[in-house]
Amino acid sequence: MTSRERFLAACRCELLPRPPVWLMRQAGRYLPEYRAIKQRYDFHTLVRTPELATEITLLPVQRFAFDAAIVFSDILVLPEAMGQGYHFLESGGIAMDFVLQTPAQINALRTDSIRERLEHTAQTLRLTRAALGTRTALLGFAGTPWTLATYMLGGAPATLAFADAHAGAFAGLMEKLTTALIDYLQMQIENGADALQLFDSWAALCPDADYYRHSLSWVEYVLAALPRQTPLILFAKGMSHHSRSLAATGAHVLSLDWTRPLSEIRRLAGPDTALQGNLDPALLEESSPENTRNATHAILADMAHHPGHIFNLGHGIRPNAKIENIEIMLDVIRSYERV
Ligand code: CP3
Repeated sequence: MTSRERFLAACRCELLPRPPVWLMRQAGRYLPEYRAIKQRYDFHTLVRTPELATEITLLPVQRFAFDAAIVFSDILVLPEAMGQGYHFLESGGIAMDFVLQTPAQINALRTDSIRERLEHTAQTLRLTRAALGTRTALLGFAGTPWTLATYMLGGAPATLAFADAHAGAFAGLMEKLTTALIDYLQMQIENGADALQLFDSWAALCPDADYYRHSLSWVEYVLAALPRQTPLILFAKGMSHHSRSLAATGAHVLSLDWTRPLSEIRRLAGPDTALQGNLDPALLEESSPENTRNATHAILADMAHHPGHIFNLGHGIRPNAKIENIEIMLDVIRSYERV
């Protein structure tokens, strides 16, 4: 079985001898190869130049032979394609060029020609797909409407206040984001993505009672518009207590943080939803080799009798993650055989 077949089988909840593995934000600052390229080009240039974006997408796969590559881009390229750009702050971090404050600014956002404006990502996917062959699965991704809206409106409190004060304009923004997302994700499938991940990174900043209305209901629209045979992984950080509702969206895979054992989530989500996770990313920075080994083994053992597990971190890999700990983690996963 190729790595790609193994990855897709896990998305369909088949019990495999060992779970496939990739890492969220796997191409990034923890890798010396990435830091070397970053000395020569800024982030925007890297994302917009397909040959460079392909090279970066392949770096972690070449070094660690992960079962999936995730295309090098960012969730904020979609607002940018709609007319609201982003930039990096001197102090670190990222910010939109301006914050949406009025219904008129929402009216001005574009949903036409998303594919044309993001053609460079389509080209990156094609180049990466060709370079990977059948060995490694290729993942496309995007942010959820809720998480994108929190960036575009200047944070979760501002987003909730705007939703209250301008309910019609807020619904208009979510509809535009949903339309643009569907077009963008469809384009990713057509250009070689085997599976997609939707990042609801700021899910936990939405009040529990509003989470379905503000986030999951829009995720359901996105899912309903995409071909069912392309697995969709839904990552909702800090929302494991919502696992039943997350599974009810129809997402094929739920990606979870490290706050609860995956076997417990399995009981909430049911047997037909695959689970991805959930090593604490801090462990790769701080841990001794022994701790990394034990924590990795504990996740595998917890899921030993549950089909449909993709090994991953509970959030993105951090810039100070130790390469040595990643190697240990992979060694434990690869030498693991279910009993
Ligand atoms: O390897 C991969 O995972 C693929 C590429 C990828 C990036 N961003 C590249 C990137 C992916 C999947 C993302 C998703 C993303 N971007 C999310 C969702 C995932 C999550 O962590 O919750 C979010 C919230 C963003 C928005 C964003 N982009 C932030 C908050 C930052 C960090 C700013 C900082 O300085 O820490 C980015 C920048 C970014 N996106 C980097 C990378 C490699 C770092 C850029 C650099 O300085 O080199």
